[in-house]
Amino acid sequence: MRGLIPDSFIDELLARVDIVDVIERRVPLKKAGREWTACCPFHDERTPSFYVSPAKQFFHCFGCGAHGSAIKFLMDYERLEFPDAVEELAQSVGLTVPREGGRDDRPREDKTDLYALLDACAGWYQGQLPKNTEAQAYCRKRGLDADTIARFRLGWAPAGYDGVTKALGNSPRRMELLGEAGMVSTGERGSKYDRFRERLMFPILDRRGRVIAFGGRVLSSEQSPKYLNSPETPLFHKGRELFALWQVKQANANLQRIVVVEGYMDVIALHQAGLPIAVATLGTATTPEHTELLFRAAPDVVFCFDGDRAGRAAAWKALDAALPRLRDGRQAYFLFLPDGEDPDTLVRKEGRDGFEQRLKHATPLSDYFFDELARDVDMASLDGRARLAERARPLIARLPDGAFRDLMAQELEKRSGASARLQADPAAHRAVQRPVAAQRSLVRSAIALLLAQPGVADQVEKPYRFQRLDKPGVGLLAELLDIARSRPGINPAMLVEHFAERPEYPSLQKLMAALVPGEPEMQRTEFLDALAKLEREAIVQRKAELMSKDRSMLSEEEKSELRDILSIRISPLLGRQ
Ligand code: UTP
Ligand code: MN
Repeated sequence: MRGLIPDSFIDELLARVDIVDVIERRVPLKKAGREWTACCPFHDERTPSFYVSPAKQFFHCFGCGAHGSAIKFLMDYERLEFPDAVEELAQSVGLTVPREGGRDDRPREDKTDLYALLDACAGWYQGQLPKNTEAQAYCRKRGLDADTIARFRLGWAPAGYDGVTKALGNSPRRMELLGEAGMVSTGERGSKYDRFRERLMFPILDRRGRVIAFGGRVLSSEQSPKYLNSPETPLFHKGRELFALWQVKQANANLQRIVVVEGYMDVIALHQAGLPIAVATLGTATTPEHTELLFRAAPDVVFCFDGDRAGRAAAWKALDAALPRLRDGRQAYFLFLPDGEDPDTLVRKEGRDGFEQRLKHATPLSDYFFDELARDVDMASLDGRARLAERARPLIARLPDGAFRDLMAQELEKRSGASARLQADPAAHRAVQRPVAAQRSLVRSAIALLLAQPGVADQVEKPYRFQRLDKPGVGLLAELLDIARSRPGINPAMLVEHFAERPEYPSLQKLMAALVPGEPEMQRTEFLDALAKLEREAIVQRKAELMSKDRSMLSEEEKSELRDILSIRISPLLGRQ
């Protein structure tokens, strides 16, 4: 039973951990002044807009708006519930989470119960394995040793329709949970029966080692489907999970290379052979979420596929999912296996060293990329090379900014002879080019642009001539400019943090998050443009004000001001707006 975590403990915990430490262990950070920065782990981006402030113990992404404390980071990054994130942080600094009060009935408790139930199912299946001689014989036939069976918690789902339900569904609540966990199916008349029957069971663990789902294999080729997996449940989203990632992390503190294979048995065979660096997707194509998880686990990812057509198609999908995640320092490789072999059969034939040799000689993504694109084009003809360039450009444009992208562009130029000038992703291009002024008031645009790049304030001199303008936000803009000018090098988060106690704070945060990051030169120009327009508006406003008065009522000073104003040709410029 879990109680509430006292607030005082959360305070103590947040005082004890360092957010830079917590994040750095998961996302490599670069020092930027007094803060740290990285490409945001919560959205795709090419230029870093994710900042971590040690002073504020706070992270913030100017691209997607994600922000919060170390606890919030863990919740978002590791997809943990609040209490689990607290637990994990506490463990990392050697604190024990105290609990107060009694049972807390919020929905997350359901998940705790679900985890417990799935764990019990795994235990029950494990207990059934030694009782079934056929299953035992099958394990022997596949060469699984006792240690492997234990490490992967393999089990046996016996024949019959009510094994699990009898053992574990002994209350209406538990039956309900079994349903939610995907362990029972519902018949036409509403009867409940075991989903997994007569199958060798492979528990699927999440990143914290908790059972969240199962795969089950039949023993004979006469039965189908060969593998049956849990359905999607509140705990299990197969596009986000990798089989054996937990075991890989347990076995390797510091992993340089991770290998993605297609099947459960491939993973297990590689681990047993002394290569505990293999994971598998769960009967699905590699998703972008998978690739992100993989690169978080290790800088080098080897995608291992059959050499046949289906394997090649799957490999290209993996490449497609990997492209936007290939920041500098991350490398993807492809390993195609000989016909009729899979990693399981190969590692048994060639041993650990043989398979390692294959891994060592895996094809780098760049080679696979160009070879595959050039597959059916005649590279000897101009036309063919043009076609290659046409195909490659939009893909290369999806790589994050960096040395690798430049190299790929150069390589394309070399291979195709065509200029590899990148066509940026059209959507991103539009977003950057879109004049901010078109969607927001000019004042708001100027503020947003200043927030994106406080350094632009250096180019603005006092007195601010736009300040006369009687419009909402003008005072705020002047204030922001004052702060930015007085603190060279101030970053956006810090600038906005000056307004933490002010009613403008939420809208400033929103403005900061709304702006597309990148293209600083253009933003600078846009900002100065906006100020110039505001200045002109101020003049027009002042002119109207002075003109509306009877001339005899104007002071000498005002008269001379009006003469000056009238001598400036402003209207054509304003027409542009
Ligand atoms: P394979 O058919 O290549 O099987 O499926 P395998 O991994 O080599 O298995 P063994 O060696 O015959 O035992 C590869 C993966 O595709 C998914 C499973 O995740 C499997 O491990 N799959 C396959 C299913 O989900 N359902 C199926 O019916 C078949
Ligand atoms: Mn196989």
